[in-house]
Amino acid sequence: MSSEYDVNLRYGVNSNMDLGGKVAVVTGGLGGIAMASNEMLLAKGARLALLYPPFEADKVASLRDGFDEGSALFVQCDVTDPASVEQAFEQVVRHYGQIDILVNCAGYVMLQPVLETDFAEWQKQIAVNLTGPFLCSQAAGRHMIAAGNGGKIINIASQAASVAIDNHVAYTSAKAGLLGMTKVMAKEFAPHRINVNTLSPTVVLTPMGEKAWRGEKGEQMKKLIPLGRFAYTDEIAAAVLFFASNGSDMITGADLMIDGGFTIW
Ligand SMILES: NC(=O)c1ccc[n+]([C@@H]2O[C@H](COP(=O)([O-])OP(=O)(O)OC[C@H]3O[C@@H](n4cnc5c(N)ncnc54)[C@H](O)[C@@H]3O)[C@@H](O)[C@H]2O)c1
Repeated sequence: MSSEYDVNLRYGVNSNMDLGGKVAVVTGGLGGIAMASNEMLLAKGARLALLYPPFEADKVASLRDGFDEGSALFVQCDVTDPASVEQAFEQVVRHYGQIDILVNCAGYVMLQPVLETDFAEWQKQIAVNLTGPFLCSQAAGRHMIAAGNGGKIINIASQAASVAIDNHVAYTSAKAGLLGMTKVMAKEFAPHRINVNTLSPTVVLTPMGEKAWRGEKGEQMKKLIPLGRFAYTDEIAAAVLFFASNGSDMITGADLMIDGGFTIW
C-alpha cells in the first residue's frame, strides 16, 4: 500500500550542487570570502553579479580579465546607500532578467573597547554589516517573490554574533542583529520558497581577518579554537555553495558555525 511515508521517496537533491541557469548576486563581491565563493558558484554553472563599493572601483579592471565573458557582471554598489542598492539590483535584473541567489558578503570591522568606541565607527559597522544586508535582501526578495521561482539568501555573520569577544561591541551588535534579521526574513519569505540563512565563521584568512587578529593576539586566539587554526576562504565558500544548492532547501533561519569549535561550551 502506498504512503507518503515511503522511505523510497526522494526530494531530488542534486548531489553535484549544480547551479546551471542560476544568477547569484554577491555583495562586497571583490573581498576575500567573496572571491572564493565566486569561484565555487561559477564552477557549478552560476552566472554572477559582483557588487563592489566605489572605493574598490580601481580593482575591477584587473579582476575582470579573470572571469569568462558573460559569466560575471560588475556593478558598483555601496550597500549602505538605499539608492545605490536599488540601482544596482535594477541593473542586475535588466542584464540577467533574474536573481536566484544573494550572498551578503560586504563587511567592515573596527575594533575598539566599549568606552572608546566612537560614534562614527559604531554607525559604519551597523550600516555595512546590518543595514546593507537588509537593503540588499529586501531588493533581492522583491525580485525573487515577483519571479515566483524561490531563492536563496546567504548572510555572512560571524562567531562574534553569538559570543562576546573583547573590542567587538559594534561588530557584534551588527552581526547579532543580522542573525535576528535572518530569522524574521526566513519566516516571512518561506511561503515564497526563499531560504534565508547565516554562516558564522571564526577568523578567516582575509584582509579583514588580518586587520583584527594579526600577530601574537592571533596566535593566542588560535589556542582557543579547538581545531587550532583559522579558516581558509574556500571553507566558507563550501558552505555558501551548499546553502545556494537545492540540498539546503529544507534549511531556513539557521546559523551555521564555521568556527573550528570556538563556540562549543
Ligand atoms: N575575515 C574574517 O575573519 C571574518 C570572520 C567572520 C565573518 N567575516 C565576514 O565575512 C564577510 C566577508 O569578509 P572578508 O573576510 O572576505 O573581508 P574582506 O575585507 O576581504 O571583504 C569585505 C568586503 O566588503 C566590502 N565593503 C566594505 N564596505 C562596503 C560597502 N559599504 N558597500 C559594499 N561593499 C563594502 C569591502 O570592500 C570588501 O571587499 C564580512 O561580512 C565579514 O564581516 C569575516
